[in-house]
Parts: sequence; C-alpha cells; structure tokens
Amino acid sequence: MRIDLMAGATTSAVARNVVPTPTILVFDSGLGGLSVLDQVRRARPDASYVYAADDAAFPYGRLAEPVLVDRVLAVMERLVAVHRPDLVVVACNTASTLVLPALRQHFTTPFVGVVPPIKPAAEATRSRVVTLLATPGTVARAYTHDLIETYASTCAVTLVGAPNLAGYAEAELAGRPIDDLELAREIAPCFVTLEDGRRTDVVCLACTHYPLLLTRFQVLAPWPVTWIDPAPAIARRVTQLLGPVDRTAPAAAPMLGAFTAGGGLTQPLRHSLMLRGIGSIAVEPMPLGRQ
Ligand code: DGL
Repeated sequence: MRIDLMAGATTSAVARNVVPTPTILVFDSGLGGLSVLDQVRRARPDASYVYAADDAAFPYGRLAEPVLVDRVLAVMERLVAVHRPDLVVVACNTASTLVLPALRQHFTTPFVGVVPPIKPAAEATRSRVVTLLATPGTVARAYTHDLIETYASTCAVTLVGAPNLAGYAEAELAGRPIDDLELAREIAPCFVTLEDGRRTDVVCLACTHYPLLLTRFQVLAPWPVTWIDPAPAIARRVTQLLGPVDRTAPAAAPMLGAFTAGGGLTQPLRHSLMLRGIGSIAVEPMPLGRQ
C-alpha cells in the first residue's frame, strides 16, 4: 500500500477496495497507547489491530535521548517484520517528539505520531495560562519547546514533567488503584495562578497514559479546567490516510497485544485488556540493552 503523506491523500489499494482489512499497529512504551487505540478503533472499526507495548523499556520518559532512539528503531524493526502493518501509530509523546524522523527514514510504512496538543490548547484557553502535563522526557524535548514557540507564544505555558503518573496509570489498569493523595501531588503543579489573578484554564494531556486517569484528575483538580487529549485528532488523521471505512469489510478479528516483557500481565490487567478488545497476547522478550 502506498500513501501520499504530504498531501494526506491516499493511493492505497484499501481505498480502491482491493486490499481487505488494513492492519494498524498502535505502539507505546506500555499501556498508555490504549487511550489512542480506543479512538482509532472507533474511527476505523473495519481495520485489524496489533497493540504493541515495549514494556521491557518502560518508562520511556526516563531514557536518555540516544538510548530511546536506538530502542524504538530496534523494537519497530521487529514489529514491522512480524506484523507487516499498513500504518503505525506511535501512541507515545515521549517517543514521537524524538524518534519520528528516524522512523520515517528507516521504514517505508507510514507513521502517525502523537505529540503534545499545544495548538488546540492555545485555541481553547481564555486566560492564556496553559499547562503541558507530560513525562520528564517530553518536557525536555527541543520539539516540545518549538511547538510552544510556534503555537503558544502569547500564552504563559507551565511545563510539568510528572515523574510517576505513567506508572500510576499502569498500576490502575493492573488492578492496583492509586491513592488520591499521590495523584493530587503529581498534578498539583499544573494549577497556576499568576500575579494578575489569571489562572490555568487548559491542561494538555501530553502523555498517552494520562487520559486513562482523566476521571480521577477531574475530581482531584483544585478548579475545573479543560483537559485536552490529542487522541480524537489522531484518529481523524488515520482515517484521512487510510481512506473512508470499508462498510463491506468483514468484522475485524479480536486484537492482538504484543509485549516485550509481559512481567506486569496480571489477571486484572489481562481482564481489562480483554474488555478493550485485546483477545490474545504475545510476549516476545526483548530486554532493554540487548537489541
Ligand atoms: N505513554 C508515553 C507518552 O505518551 C510515555 C510513558 C513513558 O514514560 O513510558 O509519552
């Protein structure tokens, strides 16, 4: 399948209805990409899906940039060879803000990245006080700073690199709920009041793990804000690239979950993956540092 990424137009066989169900690989360091997978699947229910988690290297937010580039390229090499996706969604801000150029250089498969939703945040804010909540890696990226400069130069932007939130989201999904106090402590720096009395009214969820905790954040926030999740925009982009849904396609098979360690696959986690449509799980060990 060939996709003209520049124009967002497609010359794919899918659009001409000759290739059956396209295969979409959704990739993250762990379970955060599930928040993106849900939206993409809603937009393209006819596709077949592989959800890949590089849990052997989780969390990506703490890896040095050169280590992360090498790691994602190595894991993707194997995923592309094994699953032969028609399109890959890098459902990870920490990876997308760094590795997309290298991925596009190494593979012919089209990649859709997830990057901090600064532009919609700048459009939504009324107070012009915005927070970007992300991993320590994403807040340090030159890419993130360029985005802010380009789209939110008239806003006061607070960058919060949360050390533990992605891990908390994983724990919740694995059936180990996190204490209110711990969660409140992680999101507290997002809420800022300036000297002139203006305060944060928009928070960007710039890590795909965080929408998994959104209902908790809403309850714990010291005042109501708009939380921006980029996943619906990603789903629109995927549909744009693959063309419209093929209504005649047979019902898609249950999704496959592929893990590079699988150590955290507790019974409650397997159950919540099943509820999200991931019916089978493959563990292909790939320890960090041995790629
Ligand atoms: N879900 C990933 C993101 O969107 C990061 C979590 C991690 O630190 O591995 O940034």
